[in-house]
Amino acid sequence: ELKDNTVIVVLGASGDLAKKKTYPALFGLYRMGFLPKGVKIVGYARTKMDTAEYHKRITSYIKDAHDDEAKGQLEEFKQLSTYVSGGYEDGESFDKLNKYLEELESGFQSNVHNRLFYLALPPSVFIPVAKNLKEHVYSKSGTNRIIVEKPFGKDLESCRELLKSLKEHWTEDETFRIDHYLGKEMVKNLLVLRFANVAMGAAWDKNSISNVQITFKESFGTEGRGGYFDEFGIIRDILQNHLLQVLSILTMERPVSFAAEDIRDEKVKVLRAIPPIEREDTLLGQYVGANGKPGYLDDNTVPPQSVCPTYAATTLWIHNPRWEGVPFILKAGKALNEAKVEIRIQFKDVTQGIFKDISRNELVLRIQPSEAVYLKLNTKEPGLRTRALPTEMDLTYKRRFTEAHIPEAYESLILDALRGDHSNFVRDDELDVAWKIFTPILHWIDGKHGPAPKPVPYPYGSRGPKELDPFIAKYGYKRGVEG
Ligand code: BG6
Repeated sequence: ELKDNTVIVVLGASGDLAKKKTYPALFGLYRMGFLPKGVKIVGYARTKMDTAEYHKRITSYIKDAHDDEAKGQLEEFKQLSTYVSGGYEDGESFDKLNKYLEELESGFQSNVHNRLFYLALPPSVFIPVAKNLKEHVYSKSGTNRIIVEKPFGKDLESCRELLKSLKEHWTEDETFRIDHYLGKEMVKNLLVLRFANVAMGAAWDKNSISNVQITFKESFGTEGRGGYFDEFGIIRDILQNHLLQVLSILTMERPVSFAAEDIRDEKVKVLRAIPPIEREDTLLGQYVGANGKPGYLDDNTVPPQSVCPTYAATTLWIHNPRWEGVPFILKAGKALNEAKVEIRIQFKDVTQGIFKDISRNELVLRIQPSEAVYLKLNTKEPGLRTRALPTEMDLTYKRRFTEAHIPEAYESLILDALRGDHSNFVRDDELDVAWKIFTPILHWIDGKHGPAPKPVPYPYGSRGPKELDPFIAKYGYKRGVEG
């Protein structure tokens, strides 16, 4: 149920997130007919510009309007988009914004005016903006919602402070905390794959599964973003949020229903069974220049002696009856040999005896690129010999769902927020337990308990640190035999 009479306000409309994600997603939803009827979009930022300049920017943000139809839609989309400039800290600017919104809304057919605020802003202004919106721009006659995105603090304490300040102005029900991995098609598929298949459910525990890897690989470095990145590092950037979210859905018990709170209750429950990460379960790396590509420390925006990890592998343990003893290895790295995000579930060895040298089953869920689910299994080599051969049962979306359009994560999430569905957003207590798991190891890495650990080097464009293979082997991962 989309609410008509809605205005979407994008704060930080001239920033990187708005450009790369928010506007393309809003346009995508518009094209597919998924924005509320008569919706208006208002950009807000400090940069002074007129409508023509703002429209020019929107055009530059949208990369996929090639054919005539799309170009026409882009023109329509620009017509419903306008811009207001103003500061983030002063109430007057927000009064001005409010007045502008009221004018726009006077054109609506109803007295109910719904407002969705999208904060595409750096964390330094989250709180003043949230406060100003509540005090100056809050619609008195409709639903108000606010979308915010990480970083939600840097550790447990700063996260709690941030949440507390936001809660002084916005209720949990009005707040939508984005973790865009929750909007990805294959991540959303986890619920169905796990709970709508008896065959999967039966093997989903420590009796069948040996180890699990959740892997994020990017093929570019922090070029241009070094300043931001160095303050956070790969664990805060990827593991503590994106990969942990994936882990929680992969391992939670079956929720009572698809309702947001039922799902989130189960996620929190499983996360609470995970103790803080141990140092010896952690491998840290930093990329160095190779093949004409710069190393992390060659970036001018990075402090010359930085020991910030651009690669991390950490193993988590879940102390509950389903998962006791199963290692969950989360790995993420920048500047690697390829771009790929996947979940790899490796099953235990089949009972030996009639077989030897036989590969383990593996179930791989490829989140990106090219969504796929495939199961590595052993089959009899066709022919007169009886020999087990490793092969794959392969559900590659592109081949199986040739007509399907897979939405962008941000499209799916903005639509959820417009509908008021919190299932794919992060609840306050989820964040709290996520930080509990990661804070001790982060404080160690930050050098709060003595000298900071030095990450091991790995060349730009490689698979990661050479220590990786022994690290994974330590947790029982076995490479398959060649087919
Ligand atoms: C962001 C991180 O949250 O996710 C980036 O800050 C990273 O460093 C990005 O590149 C990856 O998202 P995606 O959707 O491209 O996998």
